[in-house]
Amino acid sequence: MSYSRLFHGMRGWTKYGNVQPSRAPRPSQALAQSILMQPTETIASSTENQESFIEYRRKVFSSLGEGLPTALPNFFSSMTEYQKSLASLVVEETIHTVISSLDTLLQSLRKKNRKKGVYLQIDERHGNFFKSWTKSPLNAFFRRELKAGTVILVLPKGEKPTVEKITLGIIQVGSTKSTRLPWHLSNGEKWREGDQLKIFIYRNKNGISKDDQLEIVPVSSILNYQRQYTACKEESLDEVLGNELLGKKNDSSAAVEGQPWANSSLDIDIPHLNVTQEKAAKEFVQGIAPKINIVQGPPGTGKTTMTCAIICRYLATSKSSDEKKKLLVCGPTNKSVIVLARKVLKSVEREKSLNVVIIGDTVELLSDNPELRSSVVYTYFLYMQNTFLSVCEKLQSDLDITRFSKSVDDIFEDMNRKTPSTNTTHVQNTVKEIVAMFEEKKKPNPSVLKSKLEIAKKKFGGTDTAMIVKEMLETADVVFCTLSSAGNADMRKMGKVSDLIVDEAAACTESEILIPICAKPGRMLLVGDPKQLPATVKSDEAKMFGFHRSLQERLMISNDYHFTLLDTQYRMKPAISHWPNAKFYDSKVQDGDNVKRSEYGSASKLLLEGEPYTWVPIMGKEAKDASGSTYNEREVEAVVSMILDMKTKHKLSDAWLASPDHVRIMTFYKAQESLLVETLKKYGLNVTVSTVDAGQGCEANIVILSFVRGTLGQMGFICDMQRLNVALTRAKYQLVCVGDVKAMAKLEKRTEHLQLIDMANDADVRADMADEPGKLPPPPPPPLPRPSTEGSSKSGEKRRSNSKKKRAKKAAKK
Ligand SMILES: Nc1ncnc2c1ncn2[C@@H]1O[C@H](COP(=O)(O)OP(=O)(O)OP(=O)(O)O)[C@@H](O)[C@H]1O
Ligand SMILES: [Mg+2]
Repeated sequence: MSYSRLFHGMRGWTKYGNVQPSRAPRPSQALAQSILMQPTETIASSTENQESFIEYRRKVFSSLGEGLPTALPNFFSSMTEYQKSLASLVVEETIHTVISSLDTLLQSLRKKNRKKGVYLQIDERHGNFFKSWTKSPLNAFFRRELKAGTVILVLPKGEKPTVEKITLGIIQVGSTKSTRLPWHLSNGEKWREGDQLKIFIYRNKNGISKDDQLEIVPVSSILNYQRQYTACKEESLDEVLGNELLGKKNDSSAAVEGQPWANSSLDIDIPHLNVTQEKAAKEFVQGIAPKINIVQGPPGTGKTTMTCAIICRYLATSKSSDEKKKLLVCGPTNKSVIVLARKVLKSVEREKSLNVVIIGDTVELLSDNPELRSSVVYTYFLYMQNTFLSVCEKLQSDLDITRFSKSVDDIFEDMNRKTPSTNTTHVQNTVKEIVAMFEEKKKPNPSVLKSKLEIAKKKFGGTDTAMIVKEMLETADVVFCTLSSAGNADMRKMGKVSDLIVDEAAACTESEILIPICAKPGRMLLVGDPKQLPATVKSDEAKMFGFHRSLQERLMISNDYHFTLLDTQYRMKPAISHWPNAKFYDSKVQDGDNVKRSEYGSASKLLLEGEPYTWVPIMGKEAKDASGSTYNEREVEAVVSMILDMKTKHKLSDAWLASPDHVRIMTFYKAQESLLVETLKKYGLNVTVSTVDAGQGCEANIVILSFVRGTLGQMGFICDMQRLNVALTRAKYQLVCVGDVKAMAKLEKRTEHLQLIDMANDADVRADMADEPGKLPPPPPPPLPRPSTEGSSKSGEKRRSNSKKKRAKKAAKK
């Protein structure tokens, strides 16, 4: 039985016991413990049995001492009520996440090709703690999965997994020294001495002992919920933003429009703002406005641009005052943080006096953005070390001592500013000796130079990374991180910040936003758009109680709080922006001058000869995949044939098509996304495909949107207005909607879709496509395997060198 079905049987159940655990663990531990400590038989059978699930859930709430969730009101009478209401919803969402993932996993255990885990050997045992290290290098998948906060299923090696015998635990820390996965593992490097996984096992631990081999299967991460729960338990949150958080209306902002910006001597490129953006920026930076400022930015109205300008202005203003300020900037996802941080780093790149740092999951932050290594606190030292090594190597080859001295000075200056107590004297002394060698002789003896450089390189290592992280956070003027990372151990140690900015603030829950609020900012700026997608909440019950509603939405819409609407959009051609603007923003958003110009996008290659907004009617059929997600083959064929046509007609290169800035295919369903990717691959096409949810915040010149549904008289996801808004507002020059126009027109109460299609009728409906929807040629035959002489010789070489090594080893033994 699915989790949601179990859940419906529980409504109306309100009584619960209130048994406190004997020793109070930290909130994050208490949450994990209460969810995982129940007899595993109960947990396992709760996924099949409604009664058992009710009992299980009752035990979890009671062991935490939490009341059952209730609907979130618009106003709260006290901070205690506020925090308690959110805490119980966090517990609800965590239970759902763990039990539904476990449900899927346990089902797979019964099948032959079950999800496989990783084998680890237990090297040490301390009560519930099991430690394992170095001997079992994790592959990339497990490096991503087995992080602190991941709930795991533990299967002793050789034992056939059965539902009754399950053992559950959680990954607690990633290395001997810190609570993070060591940076080199995060960066895909090998395990080193001292690296370890610590596993906390809550049940059935007695059957496990030292030297056992265990199979560890990741269930689901609850780290973010643990941090939210901790934030809900934080005392004295009402000290700063208290009244505002409870929903007490704050009278509008004082007028600051006429005041000029303070002059700044800093060398920063501050983005140019329009009148509304500038007003919102002044309200926050000049601090005359309420403690919580809100900016609603419809799609493409420059939220991120304005936020970047605000951060730059904030830095300029605070640097010119005597008071040292620290700004915390958060977003709900790594993507939102990276987009903003990159923009700010670019604006301030020439101004060396500013310390702008990023903290968070290094894998997520750096995998597509290796250039951020010098700003991420966990990789900064390694970056500086590598830079120093390459500067040394350069000197050995070009003997340019002036360049060497300059580069080394830059490195020390940067480290001195960001981590002032890192002692570099011993390296600097060796560097001085090297410089002196060049002063004595123009060309020093190569072997002496080499050995000196080796000494310098060695001296540069061995620094305490924890100290570097601490100091970087202390000296930072701006710290960027996700809302969740704001609750990591290093951030909690950092303590108070001056102010807080949250980008995409309408896409997170209130409990998520409480995490950075624990750093007690004096003021907070929320930038987002409640008309676009809210936070993802998985539990139906939590959703029913309004857990997905953001703080921004509650304050703006339910509490009539003052906010600024950014009113000019610079992304979409007017034909594309017209309907969403009328439907979602009462036509209050104007089109920027740039998008109104006829030449806007004219240089781009368009799919359909110039019509910016268009529909391609396809009479397809819906089908469901194994997970219950919907797909529509005819629409997939139509989309792929459009791409093929466009490629041939405009002689597009593979690289052009592959750029997410050029073309993006979007759809409402995961199954359709997978089928699109698969089919494009068959035709040798590489085009960005995403669900609408993943496309929030993105833009592309051309967007093709596959609606999938409608043919069976149901609309599902596509009638979610916030999702529809995001879907229709990503394209800059051309939006091509693919769907069953006739079926949609027949549906009752679907006025929005009728309006949409009607509007397209006026503009252009490609009726001609309807006769021959998506007639695809047969896919090209798969490429023949290359007679790869290079590959075989390489592996041959490797084999040869391996056997050479083996022979050498044997010889040494003899
Ligand atoms: N004041 C302005 N004048 C001219 N162009 C601007 C202005 N503000 C933003 N833009 C441009 O508008 C486009 C969209 O800006 P931005 O990405 O900041 O918008 P957004 O509201 O964050 O979008 P999204 O809804 O995708 O998050 C960018 O190309 C940006 O350069
Ligand atoms: Mg944005």
